Amino acid sequence: MSRLRSLLRQVNWLDEKPSLQSRSSSDPSPATAPVLRDLATDRVTLTPETRLVYHTDPHSAAADRYRLLRIRLQTLRNLGKLRKLLVTSPLPGDGKSTVVMNLATALAGKGNRTVLVVDADLHRSPLASSLGIRAQSGLAECLEAGNDPLTAIRYLEPLNWYLLPAGEATGNPAELLHGPMLPNALETLANNFDWLLIDSPPVLPLSEVLSLKDHSDGTLLVVRAGITSQDAVEEAITLLGKQHVLGIVLNGVEQSDMANHKYGYGGYSGYYHPAHERSSGSAD
Ligand SMILES: Nc1ncnc2c1ncn2[C@@H]1O[C@H](COP(=O)(O)OP(=O)(O)OP(=O)(O)O)[C@@H](O)[C@H]1O
Ligand SMILES: [Mg+2]
Repeated sequence: MSRLRSLLRQVNWLDEKPSLQSRSSSDPSPATAPVLRDLATDRVTLTPETRLVYHTDPHSAAADRYRLLRIRLQTLRNLGKLRKLLVTSPLPGDGKSTVVMNLATALAGKGNRTVLVVDADLHRSPLASSLGIRAQSGLAECLEAGNDPLTAIRYLEPLNWYLLPAGEATGNPAELLHGPMLPNALETLANNFDWLLIDSPPVLPLSEVLSLKDHSDGTLLVVRAGITSQDAVEEAITLLGKQHVLGIVLNGVEQSDMANHKYGYGGYSGYYHPAHERSSGSAD
């Protein structure tokens, strides 16, 4: 793990991020945006495969890790203009969607913050289906036909957050996400929510993540413990740019490693905080 540790040290969590502009005190709080009152509501169906531990097992160590992540992100948000957060990973299956769903639930709390998850993985749309929601139009149709993205949003009960499904692209998803409609769509969405979490395809095989990155305020990189290679993590950070990566979520840490402090931070979804790493010494 020592090379991964050294990589993580390069991602300066909470260090000054030039990409985060200062927040103006006149920035409107979107928490009460009237447009949200008229949105359709879907009731989700959770299964063990959904792995929404923050909701199903709120007292677990895993849920606690998400609580910690929420606190870190809120701190960053208070320091700068962090509203649009991209969640990606080096390769498919690292756990991006799992982390997004849990983090959205943690950030939304009892509904006191408005959180929108944008499913920007236009190659497949697992979020709606893994939540047991009927396939519907979404981001793809907004980008293709210029529809108002706010009209395709669903409110999810009992999770207290909103979803813009991926929809179904008739054209090339990469061209859609690189196209001219994306920046305005994301800006319109961000202006109506406290948080925008963008669930994306993996960064190494798919160039469109870089366009999503260009129109978001920061990136969380999800890494699958014991599976994602260090070369892949390194390459992903280089592509995204060190300054854009706000932190790394280590997904799938075994409980035994957590108990042994093998990863410094433990948990079902461990979380690395490089500043802590520096002060905690080597735990390899
Ligand atoms: N910590 C974990 N332990 C065990 N299984 C997990 C864990 N996290 C995610 N999974 C499972 O791994 C699979 C991939 O997870 P997920 O869909 O969240 O990854 P992803 O990065 O979004 O994948 P994709 O690149 O296909 O969008 C899912 O079946 C999920 O239930
Ligand atoms: Mg996914």
